[in-house]
Amino acid sequence: MSEKEVALVTGAGRGIGLSTVRRLLADGFHVVMVDLSAQPLETEAATLRAAGHPVEHRVLSITDRAAVAAMMASLTRLDVLVNNAAVFWDGRFDSITEDDFTKMYEVNVVGTFVMAQEALKVMKRGSRIINVASRAYLAGYAHAPYITSKAGTVGLTRGMAFDLAEKGIMVNAVAPGLIETDMFRSLTPERQQELIAKQPTKTVGQPEDIANGIAFFADPRTKNVTGQILTLDGGRSMGISIY
Ligand SMILES: NC(=O)c1ccc[n+]([C@@H]2O[C@H](COP(=O)([O-])OP(=O)(O)OC[C@H]3O[C@@H](n4cnc5c(N)ncnc54)[C@H](O)[C@@H]3O)[C@@H](O)[C@H]2O)c1
Repeated sequence: MSEKEVALVTGAGRGIGLSTVRRLLADGFHVVMVDLSAQPLETEAATLRAAGHPVEHRVLSITDRAAVAAMMASLTRLDVLVNNAAVFWDGRFDSITEDDFTKMYEVNVVGTFVMAQEALKVMKRGSRIINVASRAYLAGYAHAPYITSKAGTVGLTRGMAFDLAEKGIMVNAVAPGLIETDMFRSLTPERQQELIAKQPTKTVGQPEDIANGIAFFADPRTKNVTGQILTLDGGRSMGISIY
């Protein structure tokens, strides 16, 4: 059995997931990186291993129950599960299809559920599950399937937190706001500035800011906290100022 605590991060090949992997390694975890896409996952994992970090990687979909079960069975221990993998696309409500709606729900909610259920077969008392929701669960234009899925992530977090509290497993979530990832960089400079102007801080968050919130819930010193949603969004969820 690993001397170090083991953390598993989904959607680990890039963005917030990769940043979380780096942070959890710095915090002393052995990390299992999971992603549906072999690239850039394999390259990033190889780079981290070459630098001496204790990293494993697995290519699979979080919606594939058999693959997830086989992966969990291959682990000697699991202390932290970070359910970060998700898909995102937008579209106004009158133009989205039922397929758009169900596919997003399948990955963002059912995939998270499958990962957590299978993880429980390996987890012991004191383990932690952290789900990555989004501030978008509150509301937003042209995002009905995504909002629904992230509201589902929040509901799942709170429901799981109740059911698993007696087993000594804490379940919490982070809700990122505007974060400078490939998605944000793909917007026009004008649109980027428009979104930043709406932030009380007038800044865009970095993946490391979200990794920092995840690290708080992952830390074995964080006890007696469950069912919480930590919103990391530059204050935007406070709503508009009336002054
Ligand atoms: N970037 C933002 O501004 C932002 C804001 C709020 C919430 N979030 C949430 O943060 C998380 C990470 O966002 P990101 O911007 O880093 O996303 P990203 O698209 O850059 O990375 C997501 C990763 O998940 C993987 N993935 C997708 N479907 C998968 C599946 N079925 N199985 C396994 N892996 C799968 C992808 O291959 C990808 O590597 C997501 O849950 C997202 O909804 C992001």
